[in-house]
Amino acid sequence: MDLIINGTTRRVEAEADTPLLWVLRDELGLTGTKYGCGAAQCGACTVLVDGQATRSCVTPVDSVAGLPVTTIEAIEADPVGRKVVEAWVGIQVPQCGYCQSGQVMAATALLKQTPAPSEEDIAGAMTNLCRCGTYNAIAAAVRQAAQG
Ligand code: FES
Ligand code: FES
Repeated sequence: MDLIINGTTRRVEAEADTPLLWVLRDELGLTGTKYGCGAAQCGACTVLVDGQATRSCVTPVDSVAGLPVTTIEAIEADPVGRKVVEAWVGIQVPQCGYCQSGQVMAATALLKQTPAPSEEDIAGAMTNLCRCGTYNAIAAAVRQAAQG
């Protein structure tokens, strides 16, 4: 099937119900998207599908055929994504870093839909887990990206 990944059409060989995450990582080599729980709980695997934060570990690949998929590798090509990354770097959010690509994707999806989010908006959208407990820094970076 043909997928639209980071603005480019990519032909992949995969069963229809293969999780998008496996196709991204194993077929396309886009390893910035991480595997955490495999059960839609942690958000490490978050990508954008048509601008929406989507947990790719539980997303059948055939469900995204024809829709634009954005991964962390291309997020800085998006003006909102670039602001998010700048805020993440400026505040030095990551600790171990494992969850952070998913966090950046979730933040970008939030700010694309809600450019000036309330604290409730941030809390409601930023549900990805972080073993290192960077939650305060994540919220600060989202606020900074919203202002920047
Ligand atoms: S790996 Fe997908 S939500 Fe945890
Ligand atoms: S920075 Fe380590 S899990 Fe989030």
